[in-house]
Order: sequence, then structure tokens, then C-alpha cells
Amino acid sequence: MSANSVLSQTLVQNLSRLKENRLHRELITVDKRTSATISISGKQYLNFAGNDYLGLSTMPEICEALNEGIRLYGAGTGASAVVTGHTRAHHELEEFLKEITGKEAVILFNTGFAANQTLIKAGISLKTNMVLDRLVHASMQDAVFSAEKFQRYRHNDMKHAEAMLEKNPNSIIFTEGVFSMDGDMANLKQLVTLSRKYASTLVLDDAHGFGVLGQHGRGTPEHQGISMKDIDVYMGPLSKACGLSGAFVASDRDFVDYLINTGREYIYSTAAPAFIAHALIKSLEIITGPKGNELRKHLSEMTDFFRRRFHENHISAELLESSSSIQPVIIGDNSRLIAVNERLRNQGILCGAIRPPTVPKGTARLRITITAAHMEEDIVRLTEALGEISQ
Ligand SMILES: Cc1ncc(COP(=O)(O)O)c(C=O)c1O
Repeated sequence: MSANSVLSQTLVQNLSRLKENRLHRELITVDKRTSATISISGKQYLNFAGNDYLGLSTMPEICEALNEGIRLYGAGTGASAVVTGHTRAHHELEEFLKEITGKEAVILFNTGFAANQTLIKAGISLKTNMVLDRLVHASMQDAVFSAEKFQRYRHNDMKHAEAMLEKNPNSIIFTEGVFSMDGDMANLKQLVTLSRKYASTLVLDDAHGFGVLGQHGRGTPEHQGISMKDIDVYMGPLSKACGLSGAFVASDRDFVDYLINTGREYIYSTAAPAFIAHALIKSLEIITGPKGNELRKHLSEMTDFFRRRFHENHISAELLESSSSIQPVIIGDNSRLIAVNERLRNQGILCGAIRPPTVPKGTARLRITITAAHMEEDIVRLTEALGEISQ
């Protein structure tokens, strides 16, 4: 690009503005990771920054299943699912997900981002009003801004949601199960009641609940005692607790058929490699089996331990109310967050440093994620470091 072009000058100005406001993002290059540790430029850190909640991403059984999948199906699929990219492995994964969710049909996507874009665009093409929690993920927000009719209710404010649905029955309601940056949960019971009262369709993005919550890892609905039958459309990324990548949407046959036939992210994208689908079956076997129960139990104990230690250490920062693996510590100012994060890194600890526009202005935060791969001594190190830094 010519350095003198208007485009080039504008982008340099925009980048400078991001730098001035301490909002510029820089990539780190990870050399090696286990589920609890991460190596960057020759230094090892305790990793509290990912979404690998059960530690499956480096589990030997999953890596072996990937190898087996390559032996069975080769490397890439070479085509979209609607051409020749839908393999036996994809089919078997869909069948397993149907069994887990109790839904009639399942469609697989390459990412949760793509799945959400397709879901919102389905709402647009069906000319349906859409009602969203204000804090739903960027993948839904970005797509919905091109819709003619949508409203966003204050985060988890059911009265506000009802006021919107009263005026616009027959809507599609979008919520997350566990909110990705706050770690709190949607009130599914009330959302189900509202969706029935106002003849609306409830879509649940359970990115941070699927696999992690509920006795059998069936996510936020199972955790809250809500039947999957009452969730009209269930979206679950396979990139977080499942330890790999991809996403699925489970719903009734007609809805899934509609997505297969209209979802541009589905139709015009090469299907994910079959070896990933093959390994995801192993991952789901672990999640729904006794090992999954053990991992969830340990994760829940580690999360409780973290919250106890945080309060016992009198850390002078606000820890948001959250019983999930996502434990946000509000720092507020962007520059201060960067400084705090740097000090944690100097102590060999890596946390997510989340700034606007991902979170509202003035609420920059450490996004600490506890996983089943963490041990008590890891949490002690983390809380001691936070205690020192907050003084
Ligand atoms: C709530 C939520 N939905 C969707 C996604 C996108 O999923 P993926 O990473 O598979 O694209 C994310 C990613 O972090 C998320 O937090």
C-alpha cells in the first residue's frame, strides 16, 4: 500500500488513536502450552487467560483421536459441507450432539462466530424482530446492526426484555448462558416464560456453559434445571470446554434445514477437517462420562477456592459476583489494567486483559479463567500476586 495514500494515512491515524487510548492490541506468540501453563519467548506462565475449562485441549486421548482421525480421513475436507465436505465423522458428531441435547437436528459450523452470524441472518431473512441481551457476544451484535428491527435489553433485566416483547411478540430472543466477560448467568427460567408468553423463539449461546455446567455437562439449562425442550435453539461452540474448534446449533429439523439452505457462513466455507470432528466425538465421550464429572467437580472446587482466597487476601479490587469459571476483576482504567497485567506477567502469571470495546468504557478488567487443570497451589500463587499488586 502506498504510504501516501489516503487509506494508508487514515489507518495510521486510527492506529495512533488506539495506541494513545491504550487500546492497541498486540499479538503474543505462544511457543508451547499445557492446559495450565503457557510459554512465551522462553518464559513459562501460569495460564489463567483461556477458555480451555476442562483442560481437554492438551489431553493425550484427544491428541490420539486427532491422529486416528487423520489416518481415517486424511487432512482437509476440500469442500463445503453442502458439496463433499460432510464426512462420516461430521455425521457421527451430529448424531452424538443430537443425543446430548435431545434435539431433532444439528448443524456444525467452523466457529461459534460463524454460527451466531448465521443465526442472526436467519432472523433477518425471516423478517423477524430480534430482542437481545445488551451483553451478548460481538458475533451476534455485529450481524444484528444490519437488521431493520431489533432491540437490546439491559443486561439480564427481564422487565426491560418483557417491555420489548410486549410491543413485539413473535420475536427471536438471544442470550448467552454464561456471559463471557462478566461470568454471570442468564435467568433461563424467566426467559423461557417470556418466550412462551410472547410466542417468541429462544436462542441460547452456551459457549461458556456447554461441557462445563450441569451434572452431565449439558450446560446452563441443565445447571438451572431447565429442560432442553424449552430452549428452541441451542448453540454450543466446540472450541472451549471441548478443547478443539468449531460449533454446533441444535434445534428442530425444519430450523436446521433452513440454516443448511440459507446460512452463507455454512454454504460458502470449507467444512472443518474430519479429524477434528472425529476427535470431538472423543471429547464429548469424556465430557459426558465419569471423567467429565471428575473434571467439573475439581473445576468447581478450584473456582470456590479462588473466590475464598481472593476475599481472605483482602485484595482491593472488585471481583464480580460469579459462580462460573470466568472470574472478572474490575480495574477500570485501561492504562492501569495494562500496568497490573504487566506486573502479573513479571510474576509468571498470565490473565486476560480486557478493554473496551469488548467491555464498557471504564470497566477494563482482568478476565481470570479457572480451569480443571489448575491446582490449589496455582490459585495460591495467583491470589498472592493479586494481593501484592493491589497494595
Ligand atoms: C459467547 C460467545 N459466543 C461465541 C463465541 C465465538 O466462538 P468461537 O471462538 O468458536 O468462534 C465466543 C468466543 O469467545 C463467545 O464467547
